Amino acid sequence: MAATVIDGKEFAARVRGRVAEHVTRLKDSHGITPGLAVVLVGEDPASQVYVRSKGKMTVEVGMKSVEHRLEADTSEADLLALIEQLNNDDEIHGILVQLPLPGHLDEDAVINSISPEKDVDGFHISNVGRLGTGQKSMVPCTPLGCLMMLRDHHGSISGMDAVVIGRSNIVGKPMAQLLLNDSATVTIAHSRTNNLADVVRRADIVIAAVGRPQMVPGDWIKPGATVIDVGINRLDAPERGEGKTKLVGDVDYESCAAVAGAITPVPGGVGPMTIACLLANTVTACCRAHGVEEPDGLTA
Ligand code: GUN
Repeated sequence: MAATVIDGKEFAARVRGRVAEHVTRLKDSHGITPGLAVVLVGEDPASQVYVRSKGKMTVEVGMKSVEHRLEADTSEADLLALIEQLNNDDEIHGILVQLPLPGHLDEDAVINSISPEKDVDGFHISNVGRLGTGQKSMVPCTPLGCLMMLRDHHGSISGMDAVVIGRSNIVGKPMAQLLLNDSATVTIAHSRTNNLADVVRRADIVIAAVGRPQMVPGDWIKPGATVIDVGINRLDAPERGEGKTKLVGDVDYESCAAVAGAITPVPGGVGPMTIACLLANTVTACCRAHGVEEPDGLTA
């Protein structure tokens, strides 16, 4: 039987709709407008696209959007001063510094200078520790989006075998923590894992987050398993015309979809969920800052 295609685009629109409802409630009942500040240093083209899209969707759900674009040679002291100013700004509830940063800036120092309560990326060491110990935290957006899709599809993932391929701080590690907190049995695999195919074949849930195009073939997938593809890789596509490219994930979609029970496509799967979860985190941060009840179902 063909796999169910998990439509991240549609799911993300629903999440943004719920965020927008809560923004209206915060405005109408409490006179508060949630605010998100995005900081971009330098001119990385992919980052510019993300930042523009974040700003547009922030405004669409009724929140205040502030963008700070800094020169690529901005000093660390100037960047830290801007973050300090945003930390102290009562109209800003979420701060996101777009990564990667130019090489002369210490990424850890910059991230850890963000007030943990405003760290809507969930990358601050305090949020990482809180997630790892099961305490209330800000949760990284991409893994949160994957978790929402899994909960929606399965109801509960308790007791299921989950294999996360990839061990990044942004996706792999927090994803494993979230799955564990939902009582899945979790394996973190990566490029050096022995017998990776056999490890993946055990999984009821496969999360592919390695950043290697179409690396996971269908014959690694247990029949009926759920496949969540976090990869966004651009490949040349001469069949579409000269100079054309296409986006592919970390799994080989056709062969995996033939075996899986459910699968997320690329594009239109995990990608749209990331920004939706960023907006959800901003509303959550705003509610916590003002002691207002948090929306249900928008965090882990
Ligand atoms: N660059 C790629 N993904 C992310 C993300 O989730 N957050 C930030 N801040 N930068 C990124």
